[in-house]
Amino acid sequence: MEPPPRRSPKRRDGRVILQFDYDCFYAQVHENKNPALKSKPVGVKQKNILATCNYSARDHGVRKLMLVSEARKTCPGLVLVDGEDLTPFRDVSKMLFSFFRSHSWNGKVERLGLDEIFMDVTDIVEYNMTCLNRNSLACSFFYLSKKDPERGFTCDLTAIAGCVQGRDPGLDVDKATYVRLLLGSHLARYLRTKLEADFGYTSTCGVSTNKLLSKLVGAKNKPRNQTTLLALEDQDVAAFMDAHTLRSIPGIGFRTASLLETYMTGKESAADSHSFKSTVTAGDVRSSPKITPGTLESILRGPGAEKGIGSRIWALLHGVDPTEVKEARAIPSQISIEDTYGSGLSTIPQITEELHKLSYSLIRRMRIDLLAGDSSGNRSAEEKRWLARPRTLRLSIRSWHQMQSQSYNRSSRSGILPPFVFDLNLEIEHLAERLVVEGLLPLLRRLQNEKGPKWNLQLINICVANMVLGAADDKPGVGRDIANMFRNQDEALRPWKVLPSPDMPENDAEDTTSGETGSEGEWETTANASCPQCGYSIPLFALQAHLRYHDMED
Ligand code: TTP
Ligand code: MG
Repeated sequence: MEPPPRRSPKRRDGRVILQFDYDCFYAQVHENKNPALKSKPVGVKQKNILATCNYSARDHGVRKLMLVSEARKTCPGLVLVDGEDLTPFRDVSKMLFSFFRSHSWNGKVERLGLDEIFMDVTDIVEYNMTCLNRNSLACSFFYLSKKDPERGFTCDLTAIAGCVQGRDPGLDVDKATYVRLLLGSHLARYLRTKLEADFGYTSTCGVSTNKLLSKLVGAKNKPRNQTTLLALEDQDVAAFMDAHTLRSIPGIGFRTASLLETYMTGKESAADSHSFKSTVTAGDVRSSPKITPGTLESILRGPGAEKGIGSRIWALLHGVDPTEVKEARAIPSQISIEDTYGSGLSTIPQITEELHKLSYSLIRRMRIDLLAGDSSGNRSAEEKRWLARPRTLRLSIRSWHQMQSQSYNRSSRSGILPPFVFDLNLEIEHLAERLVVEGLLPLLRRLQNEKGPKWNLQLINICVANMVLGAADDKPGVGRDIANMFRNQDEALRPWKVLPSPDMPENDAEDTTSGETGSEGEWETTANASCPQCGYSIPLFALQAHLRYHDMED
């Protein structure tokens, strides 16, 4: 019988994909709010772990997801700021996303979590290729608009902007892939510089021909930098991929890596991802004569495994990733607000009070995100319009005892969103009160039937989903009003925009070093739990922060 084929998958290198990742994102949000922090080592605290820390803290040995107690020992001058309220991070993320979106021609701008952006800029780059003046590359003009020839920037196209990874064959204007990446690198530099100048956020960018490669190469030079992967032939891409361990490749999760490592080494790998140290590289697997897409399929087959996983992993090992950058949606698919409660909420009055706060934020958020814009700022409530009306209200909770048993499960109940929340003549405060009584407490009672009489809530999330576009409103106006909606959002998010304002608070960082919560002991545990979403094994104390991170990904 013929041996199964081991052909390299076909590469498509006609695209230019930029991957931006904001540097120490939560820390930067705090630094921009309080610029005095910029010169200090800063850690962003969620319960007793650091969600992240700035680069000054990293220079002192502090790391993301470190215990606060350990971080303090490592860097006694560490300034701790509170990262429990995710609203400012969401708001900034949204504002920065709008910035990238406003520079896209094809709308292919995808946000991953709060701090990563993929952008497919192939069309902008190709247009600029047609405008290249080969005789004066050093003083080129990069066009940001087809209609307005003055919109753009000057750049020196005799070299790639920023760092280069791979083999640089030198400028050859007849090599289309090279020229595309060259132009992509200058566009990336322009966008990063403008993002920093206009909003005060530094970022790192990877420039390549697909999402996988741009993400991997972007991480090579951090922070405040960018890297272009020059891998123009199959063997160059393979050389770049080969050095990566399996687990470090986006798209290869713990389960896949562990099955492959066991197969390759013949040794059982660690049962949980926390103690799993990936040692097998993409090169080891790719060049092994016993590995084909077919063998990968049979190694990785099992409950929950997707069909065609063998070919997909085979492609990833070769740096091939055909997935498209998704087009940005003008209307969010859902809006959710949540908070966590370290010492637990156990009484109905406590829970009701928190539900009220969350409802207030949710309705405020609905008005920002879903209301047709009011660019003039003086339209009355009657003249405003809902671009979309969510139909469903969902209440989700997480209880402490569930985490102790390490069988984390988020329980939720959904119902119809009461239509009164769309009433623009009533104050948000009043609507929030009604929403608690008529919408949320009935859902909570349904959860109680399942949980028994005792509450110990660690997290509450309320969400509206199932958007119906422009339903009862002025249908023809909906498309037109989406642009206004973005303006409306910009207006509402303006407090987060960094402007050289003289009245910026000088020192309002919350230094919580001496104010620990009484519940800290509950989180001091060395036991690990497995993340139900990515399989990553994580100490229990860090699980909550990690899960919230996933919650933000949708
Ligand atoms: P990252 O991009 O992983 O980290 P970062 O932006 O802080 O640092 P870097 O410069 O290395 O990119 O995650 C983005 C934000 O998400 C981060 O600022 C904090 C938050 N986060 C969590 O809250 N929990 C987690 O487990 C992770 C990984 C991130
Ligand atoms: Mg980041």
